Amino acid sequence: MAEIKTERLDSYRRLIDIARDLASTLDLDILLSRIVHAAAEISGAEAASILLYDDTSRQLYFQVATNMDDATRRGIIVPLEGSIAGWIVNNRQTVRLTDAHNDPRFFSNVEEATGLSTESLLGIPLVTKNKIVGVLEAINKPKGKFTDQDESMLLVLGAQAAVAIENARLFQQSDLISEFVHELRTPLSSLSTATYLLLRPEMSQEQRDQIINNIHTETMRLNSLASSFLDLARLESGRVQFRKTTFSVADLIYECKDVMASKALEDNIQIRVESPDELPLLEADRDKIKQVMLNLVSNAIKYNRPNGTVLLRVETSEKEVAIFVQDTGLGIPEESIPHLFQKFYRVREHEGRVTGTGLGLSICKQIIYGHGGRIEVKSKIGVGTVFSAYLPRYTGKTQPKIVIDPEIRKAAKR
Ligand SMILES: Nc1ncnc2c1ncn2[C@@H]1O[C@H](COP(=O)(O)OP(=O)(O)O)[C@@H](O)[C@H]1O
Ligand SMILES: [Mg+2]
Repeated sequence: MAEIKTERLDSYRRLIDIARDLASTLDLDILLSRIVHAAAEISGAEAASILLYDDTSRQLYFQVATNMDDATRRGIIVPLEGSIAGWIVNNRQTVRLTDAHNDPRFFSNVEEATGLSTESLLGIPLVTKNKIVGVLEAINKPKGKFTDQDESMLLVLGAQAAVAIENARLFQQSDLISEFVHELRTPLSSLSTATYLLLRPEMSQEQRDQIINNIHTETMRLNSLASSFLDLARLESGRVQFRKTTFSVADLIYECKDVMASKALEDNIQIRVESPDELPLLEADRDKIKQVMLNLVSNAIKYNRPNGTVLLRVETSEKEVAIFVQDTGLGIPEESIPHLFQKFYRVREHEGRVTGTGLGLSICKQIIYGHGGRIEVKSKIGVGTVFSAYLPRYTGKTQPKIVIDPEIRKAAKR
């Protein structure tokens, strides 16, 4: 009896530590990972996971679990009807089961993804200010079933977790919005100067044409700033669901080359592709990976020298697919490298020469990390820059045939 009591006291002490730990971070990814690990620990479960609820799209999606070492399975949509987690959201009630498999609400897709077979389950709604944020689930109690105490501990943790998640999201938004507003000031002030000048009677037609040109460039930049900003805000909030399919890397590379061909021609830049004939498949959100590639290639063109080259290269190892985008351009000063993937960051020397928003690489990073990969850069001033994106290799058991459209390949080699 006494033993149980001290054990409980220890757990409560541990809960206080955990609460402090949760309150100390506003980084959503770190926070979610801490929550699931804490949930597994305090309930003595084999694993734990979080599903987040997006109240705009009214969708519930799988976000993170203790037994996933990367984020590749992130974003699986879990139906509100026909899943235990969905039932928890709709009813805002706890569920405790000894045999989840035999429950009619059981939804097996997540289980397939995590590779963990679910037996006992304890799931609670994450609620703050009367709003549902998501669902926290503890899975498989190795010795017996989840107890009343497990449930009350998890509820205490859940209450802390919900507040922390909401705070992290709000913080991200306010941070991003103030930076965005700051970025708006420069183009807005140049637009207002331009219109002021246009109103002056002494301006020559030539001067007027030039000013109108400037207005055009600035509005285009504002436009792309707005759409990139929205992309990034969605990615950062953790509410983007990657729609994964299986596709050929080679096809994608050649497609990107085609899309960028006319832009490259304008600057007299040559794009070359170098890849082994046998290329692996990727299991990823094709549109998002294409967005990354187009961003990198467009940078490689923009920051190149006249008559320069852009080389697209793919390499594979047992676990990864690496895509390299290499240019023969200006290069990046060493002191800028650590800041490159920060939003709105631009190398000072490039600012006057090339227009941009400084958001492209932040978006790339979010997408690649969201797929469980990583992105790196190497650069030498005056020689060029290589961006390398590494993605986990497709490991599906049923490896479909690799289809590289010969027409695309031919066209690209021309
Ligand atoms: N291939 C490259 N070569 C040299 N500098 C680059 C290259 N790619 C990116 N950069 C630098 O990194 C900065 C951030 O890139 P990015 O986020 O794509 O923003 P943007 O291109 O809109 O300025 C750029 O402003 C540029 O200074
Ligand atoms: Mg860019």
